[in-house]
Formats: sequence, structure tokens, C-alpha cells
Amino acid sequence: MVKKILVCTNYRANPNHPSCAARGSKEAALELTRQLQGKNVKIEIEESPCMGFCNIGPNMRLIPGGEFFHEVSDKKIAEIIKAVKIFLKT
Ligand code: FES
Repeated sequence: MVKKILVCTNYRANPNHPSCAARGSKEAALELTRQLQGKNVKIEIEESPCMGFCNIGPNMRLIPGGEFFHEVSDKKIAEIIKAVKIFLKT
């Protein structure tokens, strides 16, 4: 199976029901793409429906069977790239 990063891009307009896209998941994915390219790390990024962790989004996950990342922001991108590098070697 091809290794990928799933990014929840589910959007809800209702502020009482949080969603990853309303919390900036698409922007975080763009920043992740930019930084991966800068470091020449090749992994596919794919949009995903709700992962069920809406209260701690934006959420990303390495697949198959990899780590989840919650509350992703620009500050977490370096940590995710580190995990991607390890994941690609496994
Ligand atoms: S909206 Fe992203 S996990 Fe539910």
C-alpha cells in the first residue's frame, strides 16, 4: 500500500460543532506541502473526510497504520516531517 498523509478537510460552518477545515486544516496541508518540497521528502497528501477527532483538530494521519497528529498548526509541521521521514523508512 502506498504511504500517504491524510488530512481531514471536513468543514462545518457551525462554531458549536468544530471541524478541521474551519480550524485551518487546508492551510496547514499547504504549509506541510511547501515544507516537504523544501526538504525533498516525497509523500502523497490526501484529503480525508472526518476522522472522528473534531474537538482536537485539525487532524492528520500517516497511513497505513501510522501516527495521528492533532491540533496541527504551523508549529507542528517540523514534528510531522520528522515522523514522515521515519515512517517512510519503516
Ligand atoms: S472534522 Fe476533522 S476529525 Fe472531524
